[in-house]
Amino acid sequence: MSHSMDAILLVTGATGNVGVELCRALVRDYPRVRARLLVRAVNEDELRARWLQTVRAAQLGDARDDLPGCEPIRGDVSAPGLGLEAPALERLASDTTHIVHAACLTSFATPAERLVRTNVGGLENVLRFARRCRALRAVAHVSTCFTAGRRVGTIREDELEHDAGFVNAYERSKYDAERMARAAMADLPLSVYRLSLLVGRRDGFVHRPQAMHVFLENLYQGLFPLVPGDPEAPFDILPTDYAAEALLALVLRRFAPSQTYHIAAGEHAPTTLAWLATTAEVFRALSPAWRAGAHIQPDLVDLDTYRHLVDTVATVGNKTLARMLRVISDLAEYPLSSKHFDRSNVVAALGTDSTPPAFADYYPVVLEAAARGGWWRTSA
Ligand SMILES: NC(=O)c1ccc[n+]([C@@H]2O[C@H](COP(=O)([O-])OP(=O)(O)OC[C@H]3O[C@@H](n4cnc5c(N)ncnc54)[C@H](OP(=O)(O)O)[C@@H]3O)[C@@H](O)[C@H]2O)c1
Repeated sequence: MSHSMDAILLVTGATGNVGVELCRALVRDYPRVRARLLVRAVNEDELRARWLQTVRAAQLGDARDDLPGCEPIRGDVSAPGLGLEAPALERLASDTTHIVHAACLTSFATPAERLVRTNVGGLENVLRFARRCRALRAVAHVSTCFTAGRRVGTIREDELEHDAGFVNAYERSKYDAERMARAAMADLPLSVYRLSLLVGRRDGFVHRPQAMHVFLENLYQGLFPLVPGDPEAPFDILPTDYAAEALLALVLRRFAPSQTYHIAAGEHAPTTLAWLATTAEVFRALSPAWRAGAHIQPDLVDLDTYRHLVDTVATVGNKTLARMLRVISDLAEYPLSSKHFDRSNVVAALGTDSTPPAFADYYPVVLEAAARGGWWRTSA
């Protein structure tokens, strides 16, 4: 345990949802770790401004404009040498002991070639840098549980390769990156940390709304009469800060090379029906329209019924309905392809400390904070 305390850590993706929570947990729980955060910026002024936004989002309770032990550096994982000048790269390579690679393009709308350049090419650049690090002890590749694509059933941490296909090009790019990460285990102390769907911080804060948030905001507005989903399938979802904390504990306290971890709710996940019912219950408490029955909990339908609706909307050419389906379709196949993410490796490494927060405790808080703040304004 103690060796984690003198780590010099390079973090990519610090300005993102996961990155902000990594910064917050690092400052709070690992005061002796020095962290360098690779941040995209066109010049030093923009770097300072972007770092300040990240510090504010990390919200450590006071209006500080820096985080102790954290140094932002300007770079880009999709560029050779991480976009750093040779002397800066050399300085990093001389003393970096740990790397947490979380930088990624996560929007499902991003064209496939950009996803590949950043999500696969970015990892390649990080691995090239890691091979130059003379004090390296650990590389953490941050991935997603959804490299499992359209697989169904129990997904084990040690499994990766499959031919079930993928819901979108994002999943595909993360799968290809994981294959590259696994190959690098041959010559680097590297492990893979797959995160589940992250909905926001336990205190309700959402840094950057993503597909799930667009979906929830539109659901609140009563836009969806139905949602595709298997009522009994697990709806695997986690608070973002818990995921970041578990990741840091695995990397800085319990690192083991050549492992894969599911940082997921696993057996603690609600069913899809329970998730939807909780969502509707919170919405009823928040909204007169929901209370009055103007908006109601959508029905869960199977894929054939959903596809029939998609075809009908395409035939009649109704723009409002088409807009609604675009929002649903980003998430449509997740609750339909029933997966249970086995998390044995996480439990073996962290024990009961790894039990995720109860869904009923944090999820309503995120929705209530969104409603109080006027939602995320993500409407399609
Ligand atoms: N959020 C989830 O629900 C979820 C679920 C499963 C797995 N994950 C995984 O967790 C990791 C982080 O995701 P996230 O939700 O935090 O994503 P995010 O909010 O979209 O943030 C992505 C981060 O990557 C950075 N980035 C993108 N391209 C870059 C580049 N070329 N060079 C340097 N930095 C770059 C972004 O910087 P800018 O600020 O400059 O854009 C941002 O800091 C990813 O590996 C993702 O696959 C997330």
